[in-house]
Amino acid sequence: MKRDSPPNATRRSYALSAEYAVWYCKSKTGWIFNHDDLKRLNGGKQMRDFWDIPKTMTKQEYTKHRTQKKYETAERLVVGHSRKGDLIYIPFAGSGTEIEACIRNGRSWLATEMEESYIEDFIVPRIKAAMKVQVTKNH
Ligand SMILES: C[S@@+](CC[C@H](N)C(=O)[O-])C[C@H]1O[C@@H](n2cnc3c(N)ncnc32)[C@H](O)[C@@H]1O
Repeated sequence: MKRDSPPNATRRSYALSAEYAVWYCKSKTGWIFNHDDLKRLNGGKQMRDFWDIPKTMTKQEYTKHRTQKKYETAERLVVGHSRKGDLIYIPFAGSGTEIEACIRNGRSWLATEMEESYIEDFIVPRIKAAMKVQVTKNH
């Protein structure tokens, strides 16, 4: 839920303040749900399936990508449903929020983003900041 979601520009519908995370798994028994890690990310309380995360970002976190997710949201998904060392594919990288969550939480990642400028302007700087190492432009 985004209590501070932006207004609906068309003024012909509600301002959207909810987004859904859909969780699929191939096996009926083998899904990953890291209960304890999620609890830690939720201040020691069991993680609920309703996340109330304000859209407001810190200056440090903010990019000009129009649909940038909050870091907390990406981190819950990455940490909750993968193991350290797993390879996570991020098909629509945008500003790189999920990539940052992977780097900070010991997951490998593979990402695609069709807008070259997003890679240059948002993703690469975030990777650099997260890794604190020089990355090449060979993306
Ligand atoms: C909703 S945004 C992702 C935002 C991301 N979660 C974040 O926090 O920044 C979707 C991104 O997917 C990219 N995109 C859309 N279609 C794509 C495609 N076919 N291949 C690669 N990237 C694509 C768009 O350019 C956009 O940046």
